[in-house]
Amino acid sequence: MRIIFFIYLFVLSFITAFSQGTEASFKEDQFIDDLISKMTIEEKIGQMTQYTGFFDITGPAPESGDNKRKYDDIKNGLVGSMLNVKGAEQVREMQKLAVENSRLGIPMIFGYDVIHGYKTISPIPLAEAASWDLEAIQQSARVAATEATAAGLNWTFAPMVDISRDARWGRVMEGAGEDPYLGSRIAAARVQGFQGSDLTASNTLAACTKHFAAYGFVESGKDYNTADIGTSTLYNVVLPPFKATVDAGVMTFMNSFNELNGIPATADKFLQRNILKGDWGFDGFVVSDWGSIDELVIHGYAEDAEYAAQYAAIAGSDMDMESHAYKEHLQSLIEENRVDVSVIDEAASRILRVKYRLGLFDDPYRYCNEAREKELTMSKENRDASLEMAKKSIVLLKNDQDILPLPKSGKKIAVIGHLADSESSPLGNWILAADDNSAVSLLEGTSNYSGNEYSYTQGVRLYEGREKFIYELKINTEDRSGIEQAVALAKESDIVIMNLGEHGFMSGEARSRATLGLPGLQQELLEAVHEVNPNVVLVLQTGRPLTITWADDHVPAIINAWQLGTESGHAIAQVLFGDYNPSGKLPMTFPRSVGQVPIFYNHKNTGRPYDADLVFWSHYIDQTNAPLYPFGYGLSYTAFEYKNLSVVSSQNTVDVSVTVTNTGDYDGEEIVQLYIRDHHASIVRPIKELKGFEKVSFKKGETKTVKFQLTEKELGYFDNQGKYTFEPGKFSIMVGGNSADLIEQVIEL
Ligand code: BGC
Repeated sequence: MRIIFFIYLFVLSFITAFSQGTEASFKEDQFIDDLISKMTIEEKIGQMTQYTGFFDITGPAPESGDNKRKYDDIKNGLVGSMLNVKGAEQVREMQKLAVENSRLGIPMIFGYDVIHGYKTISPIPLAEAASWDLEAIQQSARVAATEATAAGLNWTFAPMVDISRDARWGRVMEGAGEDPYLGSRIAAARVQGFQGSDLTASNTLAACTKHFAAYGFVESGKDYNTADIGTSTLYNVVLPPFKATVDAGVMTFMNSFNELNGIPATADKFLQRNILKGDWGFDGFVVSDWGSIDELVIHGYAEDAEYAAQYAAIAGSDMDMESHAYKEHLQSLIEENRVDVSVIDEAASRILRVKYRLGLFDDPYRYCNEAREKELTMSKENRDASLEMAKKSIVLLKNDQDILPLPKSGKKIAVIGHLADSESSPLGNWILAADDNSAVSLLEGTSNYSGNEYSYTQGVRLYEGREKFIYELKINTEDRSGIEQAVALAKESDIVIMNLGEHGFMSGEARSRATLGLPGLQQELLEAVHEVNPNVVLVLQTGRPLTITWADDHVPAIINAWQLGTESGHAIAQVLFGDYNPSGKLPMTFPRSVGQVPIFYNHKNTGRPYDADLVFWSHYIDQTNAPLYPFGYGLSYTAFEYKNLSVVSSQNTVDVSVTVTNTGDYDGEEIVQLYIRDHHASIVRPIKELKGFEKVSFKKGETKTVKFQLTEKELGYFDNQGKYTFEPGKFSIMVGGNSADLIEQVIEL
């Protein structure tokens, strides 16, 4: 009887929740339909138009030229969104222009590139991915959302979920690396962090998944280049993280600059209408990338801007970021029956829906609160969160003879490298709102460990001139004058910490590289210093994998400190001196040379995988196939041993368990990784695919059993029609601490 009563209660609450949900969505639909029915075509096209910030609204209104035209457009309700306007006051005043002057008073949505923090900068996304810590990554996005919303913003152009296998591509710093499984989990966590559980709350904002699609596969790693990939890679590698964000409820998408198999993504109906809005049921809107509608002409796809607007709108690009093509041409295209009015109705409705869900119609100024902005910006709490994230992102790459952690006292330590005293480079690339020089430098971080004696010299300058997002850094390739002094200092020191690598503005958009070594004269500096004092700890600062093969051969300790954000120096020092035991694992393979790129762990076997005695197999004659550091790799100050792999299958469910023991001298965390291989399939599968991971803490000497369960969801794959398929047969199940060192069992399903 009691059971029946509980079932009754359960069914009742389910029906109530369902009907409340449908009632809410009915109200939403009705609101939007109503509004659409009142709007002119011009106003609807206005919703599809986004301008970048063009004047300081606290100053005088523009009186002529382009700025005057844009200003009037906002007042006339012909602009749906703005980007690059920030600060509670600026946003409120801009919003007022639209809400108080236009016929229908529709609020604008304010977008900004809050990619790894707003003012408190967190590690670059690739670094955060190295933590494999979904909770921490979600929290990092939460902090960014809290600061950005306090500054009036309600939309971030993140997460970037482009999978990439090519370290030459500068934008790898913005993503989660090379793996679709890890990338999908992180993408969803970021959306949940930005959007929270209540989008109408004043500290959550709409996320934007980008860049749709295949931007990470640009040929030769050159930004904005063509992508040409097959269906198997598209469905199994590129698309999964995008889909994961739709499942996580992301509100918006951004398309990409590249063309994919001959069709520029902005005009790609298959991607935007068939897959995203069709198969995946995405009900938010798609914004073009900056000027990418105009670029349809430059690609050689559209004859002129008018055609570009036509193709982009029909393909499902709902909002035009800064091409002005919709504004100029959509109205006449409708009049000429080249674009159906339903396309405009749909796009405008999608945009209004997101505004509705943000609560902008209830209160267009809900994010604009100067007191909150002051209180939250770079608060202690936000800096602490950034520090935690930074520590978790560090990857220990080498530690011979346990040279690390360093003693906290009694040593003469030389700190060498231009980057070591930089308070700007550790911030990374997407730092539009950050204060200049607001990072803790490595040098400052070491000063907390005052029991040692530190001396600093730059060695060689890495760069000259302006450190700005919009300028290319000029790398010093000639001035070697500081090397002598660095060598002298190294000679008289017990230990040398060398902070070398890339400046934060050497990766990111338009920062592709053809070489992947230490830039400028840093390699020369490293070799000169190492010759007189081999006790070198190399602290690598980078936005991408680097080919540090010489360093790996000669330098006893290497930590990869990426660009770690505001608290960088503190995080690095805590790791160097053992107050934090590193646990990060690489989300992207480190190659030995550029010639190995693209290099990734989840490659196919080929018909000629290995034959040591003959020449006719898939390899290089001048270098091993093995990477310098594989995907998933990273050391700890302690060590972990994997044993007792048990794999039990029943009805296409596989239960996996393994015992892991901390065999070293420190407490520590390990990221236990699970890989599979489907040995024979109708579409050839990779030799390894990550399908699970768990971050586990261990006391010194402790053993734990870690369990995973695999179902058809993990064991299958997408066929060349995009249909998910599971084929029983022979599978390998592999577990370990990185993608190369695994214990394995083979099963038949
Ligand atoms: C980038 C986008 C970014 C947009 C707006 C473009 O150049 O590709 O990722 O969101 O600019 O700043």
